[in-house]
Amino acid sequence: MTVIVLVGAQWGDEGKGKVSSYFARDVDIVARYSGGNNAGHTVVVEGKKFKLHLIPAGIFYPKTLALLGSGMVIDPEALLEEISELQSAGYPCNNLRISPLAHVVLSYHREIDALLEKNRGKNALGTTKKGIGPAYADKAERIGIRIGDLLDEDLFKEKVNFNIEVKKSRFSSLNGVLDAAKLLEKQKIYLAKLSPFIVDTFKIIRGALKEGKKILCEGAQGMMLDLDFGTYPYVTSSGTTAGAVATGLGIPPREIKEVIGVVKAYTTRVGEGNFPTEETGEIGAFLRERGHEYGTTTARPRRCGWLDGMVLKYGAQINGYSSLVITKLDVLTGLKEIKFCEAYRYKGEVLFDFPIDMKVFSSVQPVYRTFPGWEKDISEAKKIADLPKSCRDYLSYVEEYIQVPIKLISIGADRDQVILP
Ligand code: GDP
Ligand code: IMO
Ligand code: MG
Repeated sequence: MTVIVLVGAQWGDEGKGKVSSYFARDVDIVARYSGGNNAGHTVVVEGKKFKLHLIPAGIFYPKTLALLGSGMVIDPEALLEEISELQSAGYPCNNLRISPLAHVVLSYHREIDALLEKNRGKNALGTTKKGIGPAYADKAERIGIRIGDLLDEDLFKEKVNFNIEVKKSRFSSLNGVLDAAKLLEKQKIYLAKLSPFIVDTFKIIRGALKEGKKILCEGAQGMMLDLDFGTYPYVTSSGTTAGAVATGLGIPPREIKEVIGVVKAYTTRVGEGNFPTEETGEIGAFLRERGHEYGTTTARPRRCGWLDGMVLKYGAQINGYSSLVITKLDVLTGLKEIKFCEAYRYKGEVLFDFPIDMKVFSSVQPVYRTFPGWEKDISEAKKIADLPKSCRDYLSYVEEYIQVPIKLISIGADRDQVILP
């Protein structure tokens, strides 16, 4: 039994795609358990760059299954585009499997996402406008359409018509916009192109567990965007913690052997919401340019700042990280000093535990420990001893602070640019 989970330890974009592509080479299944194409995972394979939104990194290995789990919301349009890009790059996608229980994102979800954001005005969340929130809302309301429904024309038609009527009655401005006929037309295309991939993925998972096969669960978003434990309401609409693996794939929690927290060596955030260690000046610009911190999904510039130990510790409590992968360490090269937030200050008080009260969180100040930086290029390092002493000291401190060992260090975007400590 080997189930390994990759969880984004911050607000997303930690480099999960790259890390997943590294571990995927010797597992049997790589599965996504939640989210949709709000995710953007950049993977560099043999010098070629791929932007994956729905399909996990297992797709690059023909003997590994790339599985889209039932906890996901899937936009068939976006999925077909992704499949077609991979196929034209020489990856036939015969190893793709899609759960019939996953929910479908349709054009009305995207319309509603955009409309709600507009209506929120200054309280907008900064969503990706991919329709994720409205699709999960339909799921919770039990009016959602599932991937399996695409296989039954009559059922799909009935559900689409019902949904369009519901949406029109709730959002009068969408009256002239929503068109059932167009969606029904598209269903024929989805059916023809996607049906070969739609299979009982739960049966696959069950079989794999029974045979002791290796399953890598590829997280999307970051744990601070989790619907329950994240910085609500500035979160996504799904579970993003290790707990979501159980509900999103049907894997019993006791089967999970490793939970790996993927930690970027600094912090970024896209969209709104408090970000205590954000650097809006020179440092933020340095990190953004050096780290190419522009959204994979929306191309928005990412907000950048120092590593936040409070967030990492909180993530360790919720996810139970068995190890950490530190990514983008190379980006810090050239900084005179590096800061690490080890506590928050709130109204004259010092907090050592992450405040779950968002009113408190929204007005905390970071308490920093400062480390000397390094000048030496580390992107070609092969072993830990190749890293400058100040860099090693920084990593040791992070490890000690979170009380979780570092399993892997990433020093470049390429799949193989890693150091094993
Ligand atoms: P994800 O959503 O967690 O998969 O992360 P993204 O792909 O959205 O963002 C991470 C970005 O950093 C991508 O452009 C990666 O190619 C890149 N990347 C990943 N690991 C490293 C690394 O160690 N160093 C550098 N310089 N870039 C990296
Ligand atoms: P990956 O998997 C970073 C953010 C959005 C917004 C909030 C809600 O690439 O790490 P949504 O469209 O989900 O309703 O938006 O969540 N967000 C992400 N930020 N990386 C992601 O995914 C994200 N997925 C959603 O920017 O703030
Ligand atoms: Mg991303």
